[in-house]
Amino acid sequence: MARKRGAKLTIVGAGAVGTSCAHWALVRDVAQEIVLIDVVEGLPQGKALDCAQSSPIEGFSGEIVGTNDYALTQGSDCVIITAGLARRPGMSREDLLGKNVEIVKSVTENIVRHSPEAILVVVTNPIDAMVYTAFKVSGFSKERVVGMAGVLDSARYRYFLAKELEVSPMDVTALVMGIHGDNMLPLTRLASVGGVPVEALIPKERLAEIVRRTQQGGAEIVGHLKTGSAFTTPGLAAVEMAEAIIKDQKRVLPCAAYLEGEFGIEGVFLGVPCVLGRGGVERILEFPLTDEEKEALKLSEEAVRRQVAQTGL
Ligand code: LAC
Repeated sequence: MARKRGAKLTIVGAGAVGTSCAHWALVRDVAQEIVLIDVVEGLPQGKALDCAQSSPIEGFSGEIVGTNDYALTQGSDCVIITAGLARRPGMSREDLLGKNVEIVKSVTENIVRHSPEAILVVVTNPIDAMVYTAFKVSGFSKERVVGMAGVLDSARYRYFLAKELEVSPMDVTALVMGIHGDNMLPLTRLASVGGVPVEALIPKERLAEIVRRTQQGGAEIVGHLKTGSAFTTPGLAAVEMAEAIIKDQKRVLPCAAYLEGEFGIEGVFLGVPCVLGRGGVERILEFPLTDEEKEALKLSEEAVRRQVAQTGL
């Protein structure tokens, strides 16, 4: 085996989210070597070259290559899977399931062949079913397959809370659990600003509106864009996870992790607070939920089970 110079990150899919991942991964020096791969000829090559040309201005030293050949992804430490169709107005994430399950299967097979040691971060929608697909097809242990969404949904929630309170978004801490869909669970009880509970600062009704806006966060952007869905923050959220894994940061981030009894749920991927490090999902931080929260999480679980049933896996 060739001697490794530094960490290697592969991003599968050179669409809007994949390109956003490439951009953020370079700017944040996540890995020395980045590979952007796509089936469309010329697309990853062009996108990678464009990203690389920002290096003199931004001052990063990581290298990026665009390719259609999985051989170049060989020996990746972490792989972000974004390949698949994106949402258009009127489409739910579930509408993408049939096509994207085939895409994620084939991507996973290729990745496993060339990077048997990698940790997989799945972004393709519907995320909770696609991460299950990658888990089943890869045969990797549950720690090594994780889905993005909690980081994105929590970022949206934190942003909306910060706007409401007219404070820096940096000081807002909040957790969104469950499915990446309408039944996600933005916890109000645990949201705080500089350590102060937001429930003490924002009236109940207003807080409920912010929760609803968070749950519809993706659709709101699809509604504006009309031809696609959000990509800047989804890309950054995935890179935040990849960085925590590659740099063994032990970050506590909400991610879709495979549950084996945690929060009373078994055998599906669902958004829960995880410790991310070099081992992937190194721990799930379980804590007692209120009855109301348990019920909401149950709705998430049921929605994910319906999606997973459609994968045929
Ligand atoms: C969103 C898409 C990525 O929430 O699901 O914007």
